[in-house]
Amino acid sequence: MQIPRDFIELLLAKIDLVEFIGQQVPLRKKSGSNYFARCPFHNEKSASFSVSQPKQFYYCFGCGAHGNAIDFLMQNDRLSFPEAIIALARHAGMEVPHEANNKSKKQDSLPALYELMSSVTQYYYDQMRKSPRAIQYLKQRGISGAIAKQFHLGYAPTGWSHVFDEFGKTEEDKKKLFDTGIIIKKDSGGFYDRFRDRIMFPIHDYRGRIIGFGGRILDQGEPKYLNSPETPLFQKGHELYGLHQTLKANRQINRILIVEGYMDVIALFQHGITYAVATLGTATSSHHIERLFRYTHEIVFCFDGDKAGRTAAWRALEVMFPLMQDSLQVKFLFLPEGEDPDTLIRKIGKDHFEKSMNQALTLSAFFLQTIAKQNDLATMEGRAAFAAETLRYIKQLPAGVFQGILLDEVGKRARIDISEWKANLTMGKTPDVILEKSLPEQKHQLKLPKALEIVLMLIVQKPALAVLIDEPIQPSHLPGLSFLAALIAIVRTKPDISTAMLREHFRDQKEESFIARLAGQEHMIPDDGMENEFLGAIRQLKALNLDELINQLLAKATQDNLTEEEKINLTNAINQKKSLTATQHSSSNQ
Ligand code: UTP
Ligand code: MN
Repeated sequence: MQIPRDFIELLLAKIDLVEFIGQQVPLRKKSGSNYFARCPFHNEKSASFSVSQPKQFYYCFGCGAHGNAIDFLMQNDRLSFPEAIIALARHAGMEVPHEANNKSKKQDSLPALYELMSSVTQYYYDQMRKSPRAIQYLKQRGISGAIAKQFHLGYAPTGWSHVFDEFGKTEEDKKKLFDTGIIIKKDSGGFYDRFRDRIMFPIHDYRGRIIGFGGRILDQGEPKYLNSPETPLFQKGHELYGLHQTLKANRQINRILIVEGYMDVIALFQHGITYAVATLGTATSSHHIERLFRYTHEIVFCFDGDKAGRTAAWRALEVMFPLMQDSLQVKFLFLPEGEDPDTLIRKIGKDHFEKSMNQALTLSAFFLQTIAKQNDLATMEGRAAFAAETLRYIKQLPAGVFQGILLDEVGKRARIDISEWKANLTMGKTPDVILEKSLPEQKHQLKLPKALEIVLMLIVQKPALAVLIDEPIQPSHLPGLSFLAALIAIVRTKPDISTAMLREHFRDQKEESFIARLAGQEHMIPDDGMENEFLGAIRQLKALNLDELINQLLAKATQDNLTEEEKINLTNAINQKKSLTATQHSSSNQ
């Protein structure tokens, strides 16, 4: 996906980084325009994570993590670059445009498939209104008109080719219908509708595009639910029913409840629990979990109270363990026998239901309880087995506070000394992924002249300063000079560019980490002294540069003859250097 650069700049201009990060990390104002917090990217006691309002840039003096709002989403929410843009746009209430040029044919067809899905959804929706039987079914299940509308519920009529006839007029249309799984190919040639006489549940992706359907039979029959097959739009193991509606209904999501079925999600929403999602007939995967933890810090799993429910819960726990960062909360809610969330919420209502979520078993309680049940903690042998079994799982937890506490608890219950185990688990190590990505690169610590380094730092931190440079700095072999020229050129075309946008210009380029280092540097120059400091550094830089130029030309002169042009340049450089030192003297004498 190509996203126009103009849009990215617009987006960065619209977002306030302090407000944006402040929603997820408690920021405190400490000095000037800088806000501080404990770094979300590494474990620490002091606050070395800084966010600058004017720069729209964050920097951690502890681990080196840095960047603009896009980087924050990529690092904190583990999003890809395009995903981060989309998420940010959503936050800003903007629509991501697509670059029109050089689309390959294959990519081109995706928007057409989404469009088809949306038309078919509308078709099913209209059919619902025409079918007293379908309306009666929803009524009998207690689904309100408003909630049916919110979830775009529809009805696929009885018959083999209603949708096919309506949408499959050309060969191209037929192909699209087939590619989205809406029709099925007959062995004898020809096609027929996949969904017939079913209540239709459109499945949205998190952005709200329709990617698949679930269809429930109205009476008895097999299968009870029929789902879209895997298609270019739809990967069952990744998607969550209700996630889009959850994101839409809540600005901030304190927790997400994971249930089993379509009807559960809908009933919960209807009764005011607007943060429920369902996996689509598959077990909960790490994909699901990682996705949900982008939006919330607490997940509540809902399972049947019976044996099958406990087994499913344990499987979810096994998926959870490697993903359990300290800031995350996971709970398990076991329902009374014979109930599912759909039936229960209708009986006990929102408040009661939420109360039982509050009291649900924590991950650690469920974990210890389950293993303790399998071992007799009254015997030494039982306690040893208990400890060994728990350790097998605790090892999979990321190093951190939670791992330590859980280990302590195991020690207490098994009545053993776990200090050696603890040492072996190398607690408190910063996760490698983060270090790898964000530590300032050692290899790029090119030594630059001090004056140039100051000029570059000031421009990166306050780009508008670059406009003060009245005449071009002559190219020489001085290291870093071409980088300065590039910066000046950018600022000249966009005088109000921010540090965050400047950083964006250099994404995936070799100067990227250098920019970050410059942006993060702390200088003690007061705001009203910046201009003077900058102009002073520019003068020094010019002098340095003239020296370099003069030396370059003189060196060449001793080896071979200078061209006429080079001779003129040399004379000019020497004269300029003279007048520069003269003005520097006079200005420092004032
Ligand atoms: P359930 O059988 O528990 O159904 O399946 P339910 O959600 O209680 O449905 P109602 O209340 O009878 O209408 C739970 C989930 O498992 C998947 C569906 O996603 C369903 O919502 N499932 C179930 C299928 O995919 N196919 C099936 O045949 C049955
Ligand atoms: Mn049910």
